[in-house]
Amino acid sequence: MCGIYACLGDTSATDKVLAGLKRIEYRGYDSWGIAALNSKIKIEKHIGKIGLVKKLKLNSGEIAIGHTRWATHGGVTVKNAHPHLASNGKFTLVQNGVLENYQELKNKLEKDGYQFQTETDTEVIVALLEKSIGEEQINLKNFSEVIKKMTGRNTILVLTKNGEVWAYRQGSPLIVGQSKNDSFFFSSDLASISHDSQSYHVLDNQEIIHFADQKINSYDSKNLTKKKISFQKMNQEALEIDKGNYPHFMLKEIHEQKESLQKVLAKSEKIFPQLAKKIESSRNIYIVGAGSASYAAASIAFELRKHQQNIYHLPAYDYADFDNLFGPKDLAIILSQSGETADTIETVEQMKNKGVFIVSVVNMPSSTLMNIANLAYPLNVGAEVGVASTKALTGHILFGMALAHYLEKKDFSFKREVLQFSQQLNKWLTNQKIMTKIKKTANFLSKKNDLYILGRGQLLPCALEFALKIKEVSYLHAEGFSAGELKHGVIALIEKDTPVICLFNKENRAEMISSAHEVKARGAKVIGIAEKNEEVFDIFIKLPQAKKFTNLSSIIVAQLLTYEIALLKKLDPDKPRNLAKSVTVK
Ligand code: AGP
Repeated sequence: MCGIYACLGDTSATDKVLAGLKRIEYRGYDSWGIAALNSKIKIEKHIGKIGLVKKLKLNSGEIAIGHTRWATHGGVTVKNAHPHLASNGKFTLVQNGVLENYQELKNKLEKDGYQFQTETDTEVIVALLEKSIGEEQINLKNFSEVIKKMTGRNTILVLTKNGEVWAYRQGSPLIVGQSKNDSFFFSSDLASISHDSQSYHVLDNQEIIHFADQKINSYDSKNLTKKKISFQKMNQEALEIDKGNYPHFMLKEIHEQKESLQKVLAKSEKIFPQLAKKIESSRNIYIVGAGSASYAAASIAFELRKHQQNIYHLPAYDYADFDNLFGPKDLAIILSQSGETADTIETVEQMKNKGVFIVSVVNMPSSTLMNIANLAYPLNVGAEVGVASTKALTGHILFGMALAHYLEKKDFSFKREVLQFSQQLNKWLTNQKIMTKIKKTANFLSKKNDLYILGRGQLLPCALEFALKIKEVSYLHAEGFSAGELKHGVIALIEKDTPVICLFNKENRAEMISSAHEVKARGAKVIGIAEKNEEVFDIFIKLPQAKKFTNLSSIIVAQLLTYEIALLKKLDPDKPRNLAKSVTVK
């Protein structure tokens, strides 16, 4: 939910941190700040997005730490922006996560006379650390004392006045990189650190890293024993992140789907046989995700139920309702782009405690959800920077379709069908007539306040995802629901010119036509997303002729529509308001 970036031992440390924060701005962009050490700690903080900043007022130093914020406690103000400076100026601190017991700690500190300057939970950690060190410098003992008092998923980085850095990871990710000239970098994500580092180490939960005199050491925060640090060579995982010739990451990542879908199946030969055996021998199989990944989970459950019945979609936020159902004979397939979504991690931890076998299908390598799985499947669609999930979402759904095919046929011939679809998708994405129709439809929709998306069967999760895309990128109120639900109340909402988007495929065509007529009879504007036109459509957007993949192409229409509406409304499609790419707090 926030981003941390630091540079230790480089004369252009502040500029490197500025560039690094820009690469992780997607993690939260309410405000940002950088602290640099010269003779003393100097801090520059601003509200708003760091992406537009060209030059810092701050002078460079050899050590700098930075933070880009998604506000959890305390409004979007400069005061609440990180880094936070200790009242005695001895150190400055940035945090990624939520101090869940901050109120009780804050009350105690206030009773002891501490005067808080901000509304943040972060300042409580600063106050605890000030109290713990007193007149001393920070050391392993007093630093770990503070850590023991903190509950929740908290990753912190501290720069001290005497040029030392203390880092601690609990939950939210933190990676330390080493450059060829032995300077060190910290970041919240792997890809962003590849620009500065040739090797990296992913901190474990409860791991402390201490930097002093150009060296780093690692400790276990529980027993303060020294740990061996193993640096791995930076490789294809740390992808170059840039927009290329596209104006936005979102558009680039929409178009990348003509290649990314094939990359999803790279590990299928290696992993599907073992996974199929687990699926066929498990008592219950839960498909778990949050947000778009939850709709992908619903889609995968639909596909796998064609093969066997005991498959259940479980939105990550609802695990508590099912907790008593989990057992050691169960299997969970966990979907996530970032691999750091707190709701999903909490569900997995709960399931692991009950002995559930965990299969993770995650895009970000070295992420928490990849590391805690019994079996990890890299989604492999490449870095997805746009906050709205596009190629990861379709990649997850395709993974489910390929797995369903394998369960039925025990072969990998599905790859050929994916290749054909990718070629058709490539043609479709460059078909100017269709793209113009999408732009015109976006123009019509951009003037509306409410719109509804109807789907059935395989296309019901697509209708829900369609609505989420419209909401989160163009801020229009959109509601997706089952076409069958229409006459049970929802149809009361339909009035003259209400836009109703109908998702058609071969299987649901008959019912969808009658639903389209029902809304049209009440004045709705029917927008048909289908392979072929129907007389009931007022607007028709033609899909690629690829029967099996109508689900994916319908979602790609949603992605393009919402992207165009956002442009028309002069919004930033890459960084929608109030959102962040990775929801690392509950
Ligand atoms: C996707 O468009 C959303 N921004 C959001 O719902 C996202 O899918 C959800 O937060 C889960 O993220 P994850 O895939 O990284 O776990």
